[in-house]
Amino acid sequence: MSNYHVEPASKPQALTGEALKSMRNEAPRGLSRRQLLRTSLGAGIGLWLLEVTAGTISFMWPNLSGGFGGKVTIGKYADIRNTNAGLPIAEGFPAYYQEARAFVVLIDPSRQEFLPGEDRSGDGTALNVRGLYQRCPHLGCKPNPCLKNFWLECPCHGSRYDRLGTKVKELGPAPRSMDRFAVIVESDGTLLLDTSKITLGPLPIALGQPGLEPARSPTGCI
Ligand code: FES
Repeated sequence: MSNYHVEPASKPQALTGEALKSMRNEAPRGLSRRQLLRTSLGAGIGLWLLEVTAGTISFMWPNLSGGFGGKVTIGKYADIRNTNAGLPIAEGFPAYYQEARAFVVLIDPSRQEFLPGEDRSGDGTALNVRGLYQRCPHLGCKPNPCLKNFWLECPCHGSRYDRLGTKVKELGPAPRSMDRFAVIVESDGTLLLDTSKITLGPLPIALGQPGLEPARSPTGCI
């Protein structure tokens, strides 16, 4: 026995492409498979281009608009003192600026001014001002300045920094001091932080060693 068998003549046979064409009176409606494929491919590429363009614009936007990621104007020293009237800014206490995600600190309080110039390293000594990035170098929480001891204290795992952002070696797990933004002081004394230029903070300093400002009180805020 074989599996071969002849189809009965009554059963309709498959139509060839040629036969179908000859039976058509008008052009087929809707999209052909080829057109559908081309349209979907075109739409896919268009969407991808749109995404790339939108991504590039959103990446560049802070630089173009002057928000975080670009240069943020903080103001003159007198403005900083006035807008933070309840805080001892003149003694070098850090002032917080949300738009720059940074703390601004007067480095040497015996000089009540910022000095014009630019410091790309973020050290700021020559301009008498430093801009500290708000992210704790451990896991990114925001340290808070404490009025009692004049230190910055991280509420998450207890890292402590002096008012200039230097990490206290013995206190907390952060591996380095707070990161710094490039600083610009214009000729009229206006301070800008360039948040597109960040410098990693230096290594921690042990208690009692030079380069670390001692706490003003034996207890802090956390
Ligand atoms: Fe600041 Fe962990 S995130 S100590």
